[in-house]
Amino acid sequence: MKFLLVTDLDNTLVGDDEATQILNQRLQSMRSQFCLVYATGRSHASTCELIAQKQLLAPDYTLAGVGSEIYQNGTLDLDWAEYISQDWDKMAIASLAQQFKQLQPQSLTEQNPWKISYCLQPAPENSSILQTLQQKLTASGLSAQIIFSSNRDLDILPKTSNKGNALTYLQQRLQISSEATLVCGDSGNDISMFEQDVRGVIVANALPELLAWHRECGNQNHYLAGSGCAGGIMEGMTYFWRL
Ligand code: GLC
Ligand code: MG
Repeated sequence: MKFLLVTDLDNTLVGDDEATQILNQRLQSMRSQFCLVYATGRSHASTCELIAQKQLLAPDYTLAGVGSEIYQNGTLDLDWAEYISQDWDKMAIASLAQQFKQLQPQSLTEQNPWKISYCLQPAPENSSILQTLQQKLTASGLSAQIIFSSNRDLDILPKTSNKGNALTYLQQRLQISSEATLVCGDSGNDISMFEQDVRGVIVANALPELLAWHRECGNQNHYLAGSGCAGGIMEGMTYFWRL
């Protein structure tokens, strides 16, 4: 059997260096049984830097920019790019979002053709901005989704693209069953992964936004780990796969 392991990086695979190294060794010893996928909010370049810095295993695929880009061996998946480009008007969406002065654009390196990212300072007067922005997008006939993470990061992506949709695209292409697919995450931009037909482990250090989702929508396919970061991933592998 071939397993599909899809893991977020920051504060999931990475965050506890010792646990990361133990998991790395375990995965390495069974490397041919796994398709290893990193699903991250980071750009592809920043993902490669982190892989080098933390000595992570080379993944089979990277879902970068919250699933807006799929890379295999450094090559962008153009079928995915074409698919998510339908009904996506980046210029119009960005100019609408610019009207919200509370939204501070993130650095250029974190923007890509299918991802517009901002920082939003936590403040009571900012709490309704997500809803207002979504309403304005809808009223203007602009198709997009807003993903809010860590009480700070606001990403605008095509409706068709997020970590969850990207992983399902891969899962179908690789023909891997839901039982053999495990997703791992800690924050808001991971929620879409847990919504797919997969098994999922929420690491112990997960943020309130993901824990709230779990309380409302979690089921027997979702496991709340007792350990944080990579330790939680290992627990999940044992819980679902007896590995
Ligand atoms: C990463 C990305 C950032 C994004 C955030 C949440 O930190 O660098 O652009 O907003 O993840 O998805
Ligand atoms: Mg994370």
